[in-house]
Amino acid sequence: MRVLGINAIFHDPAAALVIDGRVVAAAEEERFSRRKHGKRPVPFAAWELPELSAAWCLSAAGLRPEDLDAVAYSFDPALVRDPTELGLEDPWDWLRVRYAERAPQFLAAALPGLDSGIVRFVPHHVAHAASAGLAAPAADGNPATDGNPATDGNPAVGDSQRTGHDMAVLVLDGRGEAASHLSGVYRDGVLHELAAQQLPHSLGLLYEDLTRHLGFVHSSDEYKVMALASYGQPRHLGLLRDLVRTTDDGGFTIERIDWGSLAKPRPAEAELTDEHADLAASVQARLEEVILDLAGWLHEAAGGPSTLTLAGGVALNCVANARLAAQSPYRRIWVQPAAGDAGTALGAALHVAATGGDRPVPMPGADLGRGWSDDELEAELRRAALPYTRPESIAAEAARTLAADGLVAWFQGRSEYGPRALGHRSLLAHPGRPDTTARMNDVKGREQFRPIAPMVRAERAAEIFEGMLPSPYMLFVHRVRDSWRDRIPAVVHVDGTARVQTVSAENEPLVAEMLAEFDRLTGLPVVINTSLNTAGRPMVDTPREAMELFGSAPIDLLALGPFAVRRADLATNR
Ligand SMILES: [Fe+2]
Repeated sequence: MRVLGINAIFHDPAAALVIDGRVVAAAEEERFSRRKHGKRPVPFAAWELPELSAAWCLSAAGLRPEDLDAVAYSFDPALVRDPTELGLEDPWDWLRVRYAERAPQFLAAALPGLDSGIVRFVPHHVAHAASAGLAAPAADGNPATDGNPATDGNPAVGDSQRTGHDMAVLVLDGRGEAASHLSGVYRDGVLHELAAQQLPHSLGLLYEDLTRHLGFVHSSDEYKVMALASYGQPRHLGLLRDLVRTTDDGGFTIERIDWGSLAKPRPAEAELTDEHADLAASVQARLEEVILDLAGWLHEAAGGPSTLTLAGGVALNCVANARLAAQSPYRRIWVQPAAGDAGTALGAALHVAATGGDRPVPMPGADLGRGWSDDELEAELRRAALPYTRPESIAAEAARTLAADGLVAWFQGRSEYGPRALGHRSLLAHPGRPDTTARMNDVKGREQFRPIAPMVRAERAAEIFEGMLPSPYMLFVHRVRDSWRDRIPAVVHVDGTARVQTVSAENEPLVAEMLAEFDRLTGLPVVINTSLNTAGRPMVDTPREAMELFGSAPIDLLALGPFAVRRADLATNR
């Protein structure tokens, strides 16, 4: 079956194409439209479709809209309930529902040739669940997997189909049609739902409310609140344990929280105080406890599966994920790298493919977006009249620049699906100097309290970092071993942790080669890796955007495929 998945309803519009159970392309609309998160997270934006990413997915596979067997839309308007009945203050909810109901016609208009009759509505949380339980690679008997089907066993079939193993799935987000949570288990590729928490109770909306109260942008800046939490003390944990409770049927309840009584609301850009950090720490701590409880309940209800898969925006909370890895009864935890709503495009498509008889194949990696051939990259460089070379090894060239404390814009292969740069559209730097964090945050216009993440050679990761390894998608924090803190100070957060991406030669040969060379030059198998973008803009997707960013920021080397553009050469050229 040829299935196009579409996420359009709330935020992070995205498209994904699944052919015979295998994901061949997936991309977020923001990378095309250059508008961060694709659109505003408001009901009257629900009509906006991921037109550009959907058209690209089709063209990448050489398909026309009329060649599709189904379009999977990750929201089912028939499941929506009256917002007043759900206790939501959402006067525009009806508008969102109307737009969703008309989505098949909108899609047919956006993709000429498409038959609106092939559009299927997939329940929002089922789409999230499928993006985890049907996309996770097979287990290999180790506590964790490197995410590479080639090393994990039979690459053709997902774990739940291959071995009959059950895979638990926990979905937590702001909201779907009428719920904010799904607990279930995949048995032989079929989802069995075990619990679902109805609105208005929502851990995602709780965290969004906190984000707004602390002066950040909700549905966008929640990861900043998570970083801020490390600076505070969970002074309000006792109160939050009263207000946010798990129930014995696998769900939870949240009473109204008077945020203003816990910390003064912070206007955007105003100073962050200890009061704000303490509130963030308190909510973060309670969130972790509740997630642990939900995961524990699910383990028992599902009959003790060894693997837990996670999706939904809350699963991007890597501090909570690390606590799950350390304290939950599961041996292995896999988080969908596009855990936010963008990932529902992939999940909806996998769900429709699976229910249509195809056997879903685990996703091979997060590099599912656009890519360019070497010839195309060279043509772009010529068009820009930039001086460039083709060094013997771009990986070695980048490593040398990094070892000399230079910044490297690293543009390689296909772009990432999901919010993390994973070595395809990355900005790299030396991790050995404490002032590098400030320098990188300056380049990117980021808040100084935010940590910068490391990538590390998989074979040496356990020497340096504690916790569940390998971790190919940067979705867990890991304690940095004491002996390494002074050696890689730029990537150690205030709480002594780092959000690690492990890199193996099997999964990411070019990045692994760069890390190996950097290790040889410096003795450090670790490089700072942050997304290739500047503040408020989506990640770079095209070569031209990479050149524009290189031209506007103090970056020493642009590694564009096999080609090197050096800042120093630009200076001599003048
Ligand atoms: Fe969602």
